[in-house]
Amino acid sequence: MEIVILPTPADVARTAADAIEQQVRRGPSVLGLATGSTPLGTYAELIGRHRAGGLSFANAQAFLLDEYVGLPAGHPQSYHSVIREEFTGSVDFAPDAVHGLNGMAEDLEAEAAQYEERISASGGVDIQILGIGTDGHVGFNEPMSSLASRTRIKTLTRQTRQDNARFFESAADVPEHVLTQGLGTIRRARHLLLLAMGEAKAEAIAAAVEGPVAALCPASALQLHPHVSVLVDEAAASRLAHRDYYTDTFGRKPAWQGL
Ligand code: PGA
Repeated sequence: MEIVILPTPADVARTAADAIEQQVRRGPSVLGLATGSTPLGTYAELIGRHRAGGLSFANAQAFLLDEYVGLPAGHPQSYHSVIREEFTGSVDFAPDAVHGLNGMAEDLEAEAAQYEERISASGGVDIQILGIGTDGHVGFNEPMSSLASRTRIKTLTRQTRQDNARFFESAADVPEHVLTQGLGTIRRARHLLLLAMGEAKAEAIAAAVEGPVAALCPASALQLHPHVSVLVDEAAASRLAHRDYYTDTFGRKPAWQGL
């Protein structure tokens, strides 16, 4: 894991956008997209670069991490709608290049299995954006998720439903169930970008990065991945014991290495 501590959330967004831009400019790419508040700055940055004329997503595909069960694709809080609103609808992805899970599928297990197949058939995700929950979840892999899990249905914790209540009229309106890529699915992406900003994420980041690999903190599974960039602002880094070490080594790495 490489831990990159940046002064502000805007620096996190720019650095993540740089990594995605580099990938997209390399050739046809498969992007893994997350919803939630964390990647919004990154998406705004990418939309800005697209509008400024240089950056095209016409040769990219995208896969969403997760989806609520029981919200139709047209519901404003379905992740289908959210990602279109916040990112994909404002750039030039080809029609049908943005893939998500169908939370209204009659057979949710079959939907999950087909999603795994679609990701594999695409050649696999080149770069995956991830946020982290205050309980250490990535995607919607709540504590005790198998570190080898594949896409499947999960039941949200009370904490996550409370955390996400701000997007709904009340906490009671947050769906109980979701479909989510598993930790094993996420770990098959070639490069993971884990982003976190703000004090509320500091404890989860410390557990994910410096704690043991344990199902109790699902994001700790990323320690087993060969290429993870953890981009955090000062506040999200505030509980890390080895901040100086991360900053020193990142500052002295060869520039050609990139993230
Ligand atoms: P947030 O959520 O980006 O809205 O903080 C992250 C997550 O729950 O994974």
